[in-house]
Amino acid sequence: DEWKDRGSAVVARKEADRDSSPTTRVVKKGVKDFNFGRTLGEGSYSTVLAATDRTTLKEYAIKVLDKRHIIKEKKVKYVNIEKDTLNILGDHPGIVRLYYTFQDERSLYFVLDLATGGELLGFLKRLSTFDEECTRFYGAQILDAVAYMHSRGVIHRDLKPENVLLDDKMHIKITDFGTAKILAPPKPPPGDGSDYYQGDPMGGIDDTRANSFVGTAEYVSPELLTEKAACKASDLWAFGCIVFQLLSGRPPFKAANEYQTFQKIVHLEYEFPKGFPPVARDLVERLLVLDPTKRFTIDYIKSHKFFEGIEWGRKLWQQKAPRLK
Ligand code: ADE
Repeated sequence: DEWKDRGSAVVARKEADRDSSPTTRVVKKGVKDFNFGRTLGEGSYSTVLAATDRTTLKEYAIKVLDKRHIIKEKKVKYVNIEKDTLNILGDHPGIVRLYYTFQDERSLYFVLDLATGGELLGFLKRLSTFDEECTRFYGAQILDAVAYMHSRGVIHRDLKPENVLLDDKMHIKITDFGTAKILAPPKPPPGDGSDYYQGDPMGGIDDTRANSFVGTAEYVSPELLTEKAACKASDLWAFGCIVFQLLSGRPPFKAANEYQTFQKIVHLEYEFPKGFPPVARDLVERLLVLDPTKRFTIDYIKSHKFFEGIEWGRKLWQQKAPRLK
């Protein structure tokens, strides 16, 4: 079978056999267990549909991927990376959770958290800019989720406001891990207890030179363009671009085409609009640093004055979201 299905979620169902002694049978969820609804999004290889579990009535977003198309376009590796990554990340309030996977003859199905608000980009476009309070809150939630994925050895590599979704509480959920990189464990720890990826050696660990992936032009880090290598700091470059964009309404590096955008990035050619808050400017200037080793790390960002008053960790996710304005 072309499609690996390791560790796929299953559901235990109590059944009575002929002697009426209860036995537990593990039944895999399938297409028939859901009612499919409206289209939430469409990508080049997938469609995301709203769906309801027929038994529990819980709502999900189901990503449907066309197997023939994925094989034809040689994207099998990316589909496996997305699934492996979501399984590594498991359950964090700031990351779209993968509940079940299954397939039929035509398609693969990823059953995910439904983020009813849709993309953060949609809200930004409607408001044109966020105020400092909203940028602080959404910036903090994005950073907390990125800190978690980095702690689990995952680099997203394509962070942008389209990949930040909002749930019914107007809290963020990061999505789209198809281009993520799964880091090998730093050192094989003695015994077990490692949080790091130890699965299929071809399932994403890719430290070869032929690492030709480039994310979305506007958020791509300079090291990816010059060294063809992404690291954890590359996600923090994208984070700096997002903070800049929330406050000013546009990403810092934007040009008529990709090539000119890349030129601006490698020459650090951007300007703050008038009225950009000075404390936020200081933070962005410490993130949009060409040398990834000189860029602010997560701990420094968290203690920067811009995030003063933010309670990191659990409390950040129990907080009421500020009204967008
Ligand atoms: N669009 C893409 N993924 C989605 C999700 N998980 N929830 C809502 N809309 C989406």
